[in-house]
Amino acid sequence: MKIAMVGSGYVGLVSGACFADFGHEVVCIDKDQSKIDRLHEGVMPIFEPGLAELVESNVKAGRLTFTTELKEGIAGAQAIFIAVGTPSRRGDGHADLTYVYAVAEEVGQNLSNDAVVVTKSTVPVGTGDEVERILSASGTSHRVAVVSNPEFLREGAAINDFKRPDRIVIGAEDDFGREVMREVYRPLFLNESPILFVNRRTSELIKYAANAFLATKITFINEMADLCEKVGANVQDVSRGIGMDNRIGAKFLHAGPGYGGSCFPKDTLALLKTAEDYDSPTRIIEAVVKVNDGRKRAMGRKVVDAIGGQDNARGKKVALLGLTFKPDTDDMRDSPSIAVAQALVDCGVEVVAYDPEGMELAKPLMPEVTMASDPYDAIEGADAVAIVTEWDAFRALDLNRVKSLLNAPVVVDLRNIYRADDMRAMGFTYESVGRP
Ligand code: UGA
Repeated sequence: MKIAMVGSGYVGLVSGACFADFGHEVVCIDKDQSKIDRLHEGVMPIFEPGLAELVESNVKAGRLTFTTELKEGIAGAQAIFIAVGTPSRRGDGHADLTYVYAVAEEVGQNLSNDAVVVTKSTVPVGTGDEVERILSASGTSHRVAVVSNPEFLREGAAINDFKRPDRIVIGAEDDFGREVMREVYRPLFLNESPILFVNRRTSELIKYAANAFLATKITFINEMADLCEKVGANVQDVSRGIGMDNRIGAKFLHAGPGYGGSCFPKDTLALLKTAEDYDSPTRIIEAVVKVNDGRKRAMGRKVVDAIGGQDNARGKKVALLGLTFKPDTDDMRDSPSIAVAQALVDCGVEVVAYDPEGMELAKPLMPEVTMASDPYDAIEGADAVAIVTEWDAFRALDLNRVKSLLNAPVVVDLRNIYRADDMRAMGFTYESVGRP
């Protein structure tokens, strides 16, 4: 089956490469000529473990191609996926659908066969209806079905998430749409990955509800962590204790500096906007957004407190280890590290940072921060080190060396990657999140 993927960003490229790996013929389309040129040279526009290899093997096998020409790319495709960005619209947080609708328009004008048009981008409820309206207004004589098929992959684990999904959600309004989507996902069907067929609006809402629920879970445990600090309890044990209840589940209960990334912050805001538009308030999500925003800056204050408080901070030096919003990505979008660094800079602290992949994208976001060549370089002469992202490389640091390089043996571990007893036994003044 031929599949066209319009938009070769995170979701489009990973999905396209994985569909090709299933054996489909896939064309990835993007307007960005330099991105397509680089893909032809095997250079990935994003850092994602395993992606370059997957792209290379499928290009070699002749199943995966790239083009900037939409008309040529969609010719003969039975499924045309829209996987372009839906950033937060400035001002009101609503998802900006300009790119989605522009693609729908161009597809309508250039369609040369019957096809299913699938929104894979995260789009608010009702977007599929509008895409359908745009396609029919284009006057195409071909049969078109508009389907919603949200993506649940996580950065850093995207390929595995795509190939071994917990579920596939398909929102379709007719048999043509359902049949083509069954064929698209047949390889996963055979793997017995559950496929949930629902109506289109339900599918669109499932995506937002899933992300909002996960953001809520994280925010809940972060507030429990604060309470743990006050009452002398251990949040990791609380997570274990509640997570063993199957109704709650153990995942997404790691307390930390607040969620970031390209999805949770944007999608929670967009869901709030939808709820407002339909006059159906979602107060829990309102609280989640507020609490998470405040938390990032509060984590900066936590680091300031560890070096003696605001009054003693000026002129001190802090090493930040980890800048990306989570490990195994170079993505800096809405990363807690930005607020943490800013809080320190605002107190007159010199900040030196190291991140295995994120420094290039971090530089313009934190111009006052110096980037180091490795963790030890960042730590040398610092009055404290703060772990902001839990890269594996930081778990294996030579802690004796860390201690000898630090000006004062202070470690603020915002991801709870070390054991408090071990750290204190080594002579560190050790602060973590929600643990005594
Ligand atoms: C998230 C969802 O997990 C995916 O299912 C979804 O497809 C994706 O958004 C999307 O909508 O495209 P992602 O943003 O890649 O994926 O990252 P997550 O692993 O979910 O982490 C998000 C943030 O939450 C990170 O800042 C992470 O550090 C934080 N987090 C996560 C915690 O603080 N604690 C946890 O227990 C889990």
